[in-house]
Amino acid sequence: MDRKNQTPQGQIAQVVVEFLEVAISCIVFLKGFYPPRAFERRRYMNVVVQKALHPELTSYIHSVTFGLLPFIQKGLVERVVVIFYDKGHVPTEKFVFKLAVNQSYRSKLEEANLEFALRAFLIRLTVAEPVTRPLPRDGSWEVTAYFRSLPGDGDREAQLWIPTDAELWMQPPQITPIKSVSCDPLTMQLYLEHPSVTEPKEPPA
Ligand SMILES: *[C@@H]1O[C@H](CO)[C@@H](O)[C@H](O)[C@H]1NC(C)=O
Repeated sequence: MDRKNQTPQGQIAQVVVEFLEVAISCIVFLKGFYPPRAFERRRYMNVVVQKALHPELTSYIHSVTFGLLPFIQKGLVERVVVIFYDKGHVPTEKFVFKLAVNQSYRSKLEEANLEFALRAFLIRLTVAEPVTRPLPRDGSWEVTAYFRSLPGDGDREAQLWIPTDAELWMQPPQITPIKSVSCDPLTMQLYLEHPSVTEPKEPPA
């Protein structure tokens, strides 16, 4: 894609979705959800990352991230969340990317600064395993996006994003910050959410 003729918000959205695609693949690798042979080592932004090889997995991660491009560009996406569930479809761990793209920013995008910032996320992610929880047996995972405001009715693409039927936690979650950066026009935080220790272990009947 030609980035030259785009607004800074368009450029940044492109960089962010590419970054999210790589980061989500790294998270799924980190959690050991699939055997290591489902991934291959690649270099991205000069960091060794794990890229999904399985066509369905690759295509799922690609379509969710690139599907968000227009909404990230317009500043509508507040959080992109990778959620791991137990077999009862109760979330056990969430990797939350909270982001904001400054819509008033008009200057030229300093892509090198932005890449430097995003690179720091990837480096932190590759060593984040000790702060994560063991993966439950027979669980599942998915990527969910939370919008800041609902896109208009005319936005057919946005309507493909349906609410998930996941069980909610009753108590506010425990939060573990991983990394945050502010590199105008992008601010982004990555943190983990775990169920509170007072969270009932079994979903209510
Ligand atoms: C957004 O960008 C404008 C113009 O560059 C700047 O003045 C403003 O401080 C930025 N806002 C935030 C919240 O960073």
